[in-house]
Amino acid sequence: MADRKKMSVAEILAAARAQKAGGDGAGNAPETAAAEPAAPVEVEATTASTPPAEPKPAAKPAVGKGGGRPSVADIMKMARQKSSGEATAAEKPAAAAAPKPAAAAAPKPAAAKPAAGKAAEKPAAPTMAALPRDTASILAAARGAKPGPTSKADAPASAKPQAKPTAKAKPAARPVPPKPTRPVVAKKAAATDDRRGFLSIAMGSFMAVGFTALSVTGGLFSLGLARFLFPNVLAEPPSRFKVGFKEAFPAGKVETKYVAQYGVWVVNSEVQGEEQIYALKTVCTHLGCTPNWLEAEQKFKCPCHGSGFYKDGVNFEGPAPRPLERYAIQISDDGQLEVDKSRTFQEELGQWSDPASYVTA
Ligand code: FES
Repeated sequence: MADRKKMSVAEILAAARAQKAGGDGAGNAPETAAAEPAAPVEVEATTASTPPAEPKPAAKPAVGKGGGRPSVADIMKMARQKSSGEATAAEKPAAAAAPKPAAAAAPKPAAAKPAAGKAAEKPAAPTMAALPRDTASILAAARGAKPGPTSKADAPASAKPQAKPTAKAKPAARPVPPKPTRPVVAKKAAATDDRRGFLSIAMGSFMAVGFTALSVTGGLFSLGLARFLFPNVLAEPPSRFKVGFKEAFPAGKVETKYVAQYGVWVVNSEVQGEEQIYALKTVCTHLGCTPNWLEAEQKFKCPCHGSGFYKDGVNFEGPAPRPLERYAIQISDDGQLEVDKSRTFQEELGQWSDPASYVTA
């Protein structure tokens, strides 16, 4: 046993190949095969007993059976043999040959059950599950460091917890830009609104003033046109009007109350030996002024150029060229005196003798 313990991995592998080549026909072959599997098992135990969780997988083989630490070249060689299928045949005896040691070292006892009936005919080889799959893990196992992930499922499990703190640290490291204060923006917006409101109001005011002026001008123009459509019309008093009964006009009386309204003097005076009531026209025969009746002087005096007229209307002084004119007068149906201004009578024409120009008192 002491010699077997000192055998290196290369020697163990060589013995296994020799056993495979010699077959079970050799008489001492089973003994050798039965005795030698301890070394491969040691290797398998070494690789199998180095789960990723254990920090020091290489410590056990050195302390265990003294086979020595396999070199990297040997481990790689074993792995290649496994992958090429050569190790498939050798795996079975390896699993069968290591019932006892595998029970103590291998984590999977299921592989030991089928191998219990068969003696360890061939040197045991490490299983695929026990061997590291990638070169980095193999190298790490050989160097005694913590092996890398044996499968893809193991990698994220170990990487995720380390990624979280970095992800949390990033937002803290980002510089937060200062946010603009709302009141400033609101004030600027309010100022802009005020300016726009002022401009709109000013424009609206100018437009309103312009439209108002245009409307006023149009209205005045329309009124001017309407003024031409309705010319001035003098409202003249009627040409016929009643002045009252004859008793209201005593002899020698000059009634002046109808001068302003009708332009007529109603006179009761004696003419050519006959008392008559007649109506004198209040228009000076010079230039058309209105003479005044002077009761004290018993005459009509024109204020314009000084023409004078007697009570019967005959001119006697001033520039007046002829006597005053008379209006037609008559007694109406109701007995009142009625003056008709549509007819005039002139003394120089001998018209005063017309009975229509007077009423006998
Ligand atoms: Fe009466 Fe000239 S108008 S005097």
